[in-house]
Amino acid sequence: MTGTTLSPRALMSLLANGAKAVDVVRTALDLGLIDALEEGETCVAELGARLGVVPGRLYKLLDCLESLGMVRGEATGDDFALTRYRAVPGLREAAGVAGPGSLELDRDRYPWRLLHGRLTDVLRGETSIPEDDFAWPPKGPEQLAGFERSMAAGLAPFVQTFAAHAALLWNAPAPRLLDVGGGDGTLAAHLLAGSPGLRVDVYNLPEAEPLVGRTRCESPHGHRLGFVGGDFLGEALPAGYDAMSFVRVLHDWPVPTAGALLRKAHDALRPGGRILICEEFRTPERLAAQFFWSYFLMGVDACVSRLYDVEHYVRLLRRTGFGDVTVLPGPVELIVATKDARPLEPVAESTTNPSRRPHMLEER
Ligand SMILES: C[S@@+](CC[C@H](N)C(=O)[O-])C[C@H]1O[C@@H](n2cnc3c(N)ncnc32)[C@H](O)[C@@H]1O
Repeated sequence: MTGTTLSPRALMSLLANGAKAVDVVRTALDLGLIDALEEGETCVAELGARLGVVPGRLYKLLDCLESLGMVRGEATGDDFALTRYRAVPGLREAAGVAGPGSLELDRDRYPWRLLHGRLTDVLRGETSIPEDDFAWPPKGPEQLAGFERSMAAGLAPFVQTFAAHAALLWNAPAPRLLDVGGGDGTLAAHLLAGSPGLRVDVYNLPEAEPLVGRTRCESPHGHRLGFVGGDFLGEALPAGYDAMSFVRVLHDWPVPTAGALLRKAHDALRPGGRILICEEFRTPERLAAQFFWSYFLMGVDACVSRLYDVEHYVRLLRRTGFGDVTVLPGPVELIVATKDARPLEPVAESTTNPSRRPHMLEER
């Protein structure tokens, strides 16, 4: 988080003007104002001349951006045109939330309007999202394809975390990973690109096969990408893998179901095999980014969708018989545990840079 934290009262003033705030940010993107601010500190007069807009109007737009916490302004005297503005770190990423192709725009196509203004009925159990509009798990090829597309669009931080620890994760000869609930195989394709010896099978509902097939065709590493169709609620997980990953999967299910899935993974993994859990572990920042799903899924009882903290999974893993639980840092943390509790061997980079050192949670 950057800047000061807004009080709930101040936040509500902004939210009550949310449509205008998004208009301000989109205008700043279209005008090139976000780019100009990212280039360095500048004053209203310079910005006005560069962008061809009226300085006496521009400073009001900049005040709107400052109220959103996206820029900092500093007056240098009485003349507002000399007020200097600088971007807060992460300005471009923040503005992108309102920009074209954003995750929030993608989410907007889900039928959340069926709940809007009717939350009391929803909370009383009288109104839900009809299964034909959105079921959990997604029902039919069209729903599944749309959902997996949304998931793939938000994978960047997960790809970064896995890439940062590839040498540590895939240190066995010709390792085999089963990516459980692995979507359309986009994450798998990224993993294969960074690790030439790795083979990945995506485990997903049988209807997902054509989606993974398309990813396989589009990836230059597709010959190492496989698919196993199945329903992890009703079946055992397939054996023969060195590692199994659950990326944004466990938090969609009640805790006993998540525990049962981990036990199935434990049963299927070879001794010394690893389990990898990666999802948005609960922080205020991530809870805010999750707002859409928290809202929309009030109307979908089958999907639990709750952000848990890392410790929740550490407890669950211990109860399921995994040991040597390690939390690897990244844009999202990655929890790694071992079936027979053999210690992980940290890579050199992690041991020399304390801030990037894996965080060992278990006594050896
Ligand atoms: C929230 S998505 C996460 C997808 C992917 N791991 C990612 O992070 O982009 C959950 C995944 O679990 C799959 N899934 C849901 N229920 C399933 C079941 N009963 N058996 C197998 N896969 C299931 C969904 O189809 C989807 O691919």
